[in-house]
Amino acid sequence: MSELTLYRGEVFDFIDSPLNRKDAYRYFPDGALVVREGEIVDCGPFEEIKGRYTDYELVDYSGKLLMPGFIDSHIHYPQAEIIGMYGRQLLDWLEDYTFPAEQAFVSSEHADRMAHFFVEELFRNGTTACMAYATVHPTSVTALFSVASEYNMCMLTGKVLMDRNAPAGLTDTAEQGKSESRSLIESWHGKGRNRYVITPRFAISCSTEQLIAAGRLHEQYPGTYIQTHLSENKDEIDSTLSLCPDCQDYLEVYERARLVTDRSIFGHCIHLSDSECRRLVEAGSVVAHCPTSNLFLGSGLFDMQQANRVGMQTVLATDIGAGTSFSMLRTMGEAYKVQQLGGYPMSVFESLYKCTLGAAKALHLDDEIGCFGKGRKADFIVMDYAATPSQQVRMDYLKRHGKWTLENKLFGLQTAGDERNIQATYVMGKRVFTLA
Ligand code: GUN
Ligand code: ZN
Repeated sequence: MSELTLYRGEVFDFIDSPLNRKDAYRYFPDGALVVREGEIVDCGPFEEIKGRYTDYELVDYSGKLLMPGFIDSHIHYPQAEIIGMYGRQLLDWLEDYTFPAEQAFVSSEHADRMAHFFVEELFRNGTTACMAYATVHPTSVTALFSVASEYNMCMLTGKVLMDRNAPAGLTDTAEQGKSESRSLIESWHGKGRNRYVITPRFAISCSTEQLIAAGRLHEQYPGTYIQTHLSENKDEIDSTLSLCPDCQDYLEVYERARLVTDRSIFGHCIHLSDSECRRLVEAGSVVAHCPTSNLFLGSGLFDMQQANRVGMQTVLATDIGAGTSFSMLRTMGEAYKVQQLGGYPMSVFESLYKCTLGAAKALHLDDEIGCFGKGRKADFIVMDYAATPSQQVRMDYLKRHGKWTLENKLFGLQTAGDERNIQATYVMGKRVFTLA
């Protein structure tokens, strides 16, 4: 018999979307999670679970929240060094800070160092899976997949394709981009928990030929994903439409290249027309809302209520380094404020869903991550509700008033929480981070 570990604590996960039903989650205030060989074997009330097993190691996190690790569906690992640079809006910020930082990834030593930093920073923030942009350099992809493999982490990434409107040190050609991507797919896609993401940066930096090559590559490797940016900033949209005068709107640029699929994740999508929204829904594509980035670059306010109304699949993401925090708790907190400005006080269950099971479903990974269903990988986090004096007095107040409810606990984490609340992070049942 292989070893069982039983983690005791407040166990929480989703079984469905909270937009579909009220009881979309499971919550066991004194619960247990049972793990064997990196996979979830069981979960439920502690008293029930402990009677089912005889020989196990008990890890006691009583009073702490055990939930599936966060999934960050849009993040740029080479931008970890440039968070919070005064770049004003998107296009200046790319030119002044992003492109210079990405050029340093021509050095594989630098890429390797930053990949280690990045993955460890994700774990410190409770993020156990992500869909990341690398740079144009194939070695940047190799570095990230290699580090993720050391931890057995679920990693989705790919080489950025860009053959125009960027410095010489950051451009490829349509042909080179395709052959380098192909060889990375052959080496990494499906190897361990790695998946390849075909990554045309955005229409401004990709010629029509390059976008078409990217679409063809996805058709040749249908298990891969596609990620790009769409309709983030008004100047970006104007510039795109002047570069692609035959297209009616921004989305059409990608549609013509067959890049709009149910395995495509579009970052931002703030300024879409009704027609673009409808076509994204019809294609089954996913929209990554990145609130800290949108606020930081002054890009605009994403309308989640409208997205929900039309049945768009949305997820939450940091978009580091335009995003200002690695923390999905901070990201949820800022998403709430953005939606407040649109008259939609989004529920904490909706936000949490969109960076756990909702993201896993959107990325076709829900048989592996996102919840505590049997056979899922044991990627989970342990959260402390009261990591700061201010959080402590809030908790005391709610307890005194009989209002220490699940919703109030989670909403507090969302509003005031960050990496200080992450007590431990586990990947396939192995502890990869613990708060000192
Ligand atoms: N559009 C094209 N590239 C980028 C990027 O690196 N970050 C953001 N936020 N938007 C982009
Ligand atoms: Zn981005």
